[in-house]
Amino acid sequence: MKVLVTGGTGYIGSHTVVDLLENNYEVVIVDNLSNSQKEVVEKIKKITNKTVKFYEIDLCCKDDLKKVFADEKIDAVIHFAGFKAVGESVEKPLKYYENNLISTINLLNTMNEFNVKKIIFSSSATVYGNPAKVPVYEDFPLSTTNPYGATKLIIENMLKDLYVSDNSFDITILRYFNPVGAHKSGLIGENPNGIPNNLMPYIVKVATGKLPFLNIFGNDYNTVDGTGVRDYIHVCDLSYGHVLALKNPKLGLKIYNLGTGKGTSVLELVNIFEKVNNVKINKKIVARRPGDVDINYASCDLARKELGFIAKYSIEDMCRDSYNFVKNN
Ligand code: WQD
Repeated sequence: MKVLVTGGTGYIGSHTVVDLLENNYEVVIVDNLSNSQKEVVEKIKKITNKTVKFYEIDLCCKDDLKKVFADEKIDAVIHFAGFKAVGESVEKPLKYYENNLISTINLLNTMNEFNVKKIIFSSSATVYGNPAKVPVYEDFPLSTTNPYGATKLIIENMLKDLYVSDNSFDITILRYFNPVGAHKSGLIGENPNGIPNNLMPYIVKVATGKLPFLNIFGNDYNTVDGTGVRDYIHVCDLSYGHVLALKNPKLGLKIYNLGTGKGTSVLELVNIFEKVNNVKINKKIVARRPGDVDINYASCDLARKELGFIAKYSIEDMCRDSYNFVKNN
């Protein structure tokens, strides 16, 4: 089976391409390299000792995308490509709506033209907004608090409407919780340029001396120690979830949470990071970050029942692998 992976040189995309190749899928990557590097393709080949095709194109350019579909006989698509910084999306909403929506509409139209009907979409727990209770189930109410999350929800609704109009589509929506960690080889991982938005890459930059201390956004939440609680999932658990989704015999429109089912607070994560990596993380409690929720973690019952998905990596693994990757690069 030949799988087109959009955003395949990105953080989650590259880990998924590794798992696809190691499970004997053929892979074609399309990526515009707006938030990743072309060297990742060579690193994927080094990890898997397999070839992978790469096209540097922007999904917003429909002609370039059609050419890939004309040249490659695609059987399924995994769609990661999109801008994903929550804070930036608040500052530049049109950039997010234009890029994330136009690229997806082009992709779906091109798939239709070439009779490619199987798609797995990279969605996010952010579509649950501020959940009234935890764990979060797939049938919980959906709402968003920022333009990035709004694009994810709009795309989910596009896919639901597309399925109603043509149920020959086979659509899987995967809602990721908080992906962290890196491949054990240390060759691929997450190392954002500049000041990271997310917690783990920020902790790693403090650990490597690139930032002086961690700002902890509030310790007055209604949680075990007052700091925010999230469901951190190792990126390698997340990537393997895509292989399971491809193998899912169930057709039609399916939606699954991909998390661990457990919540970890900011202070708990920092303490575990310090212990497994034998480093000290300087930290300061500061004001809450607008838009943050107290607590959010997944029920993974449905993914376990229908996909056989069970996250196997621990928080300790996530902290060790995140640090290992940045130390090696
Ligand atoms: C986690 C916790 C912060 C940074 C976002 C998106 C979601 C997904 C993952 C893309 C919170 C605290 C953070 C820092 C801190 N992204 N924190 N100091 O906000 O749960 O989810 O990223 O798909 O869509 O919404 O992740 O890592 O930013 O924050 O104290 O410097 O760490 O308050 O409690 P979040 P995060």
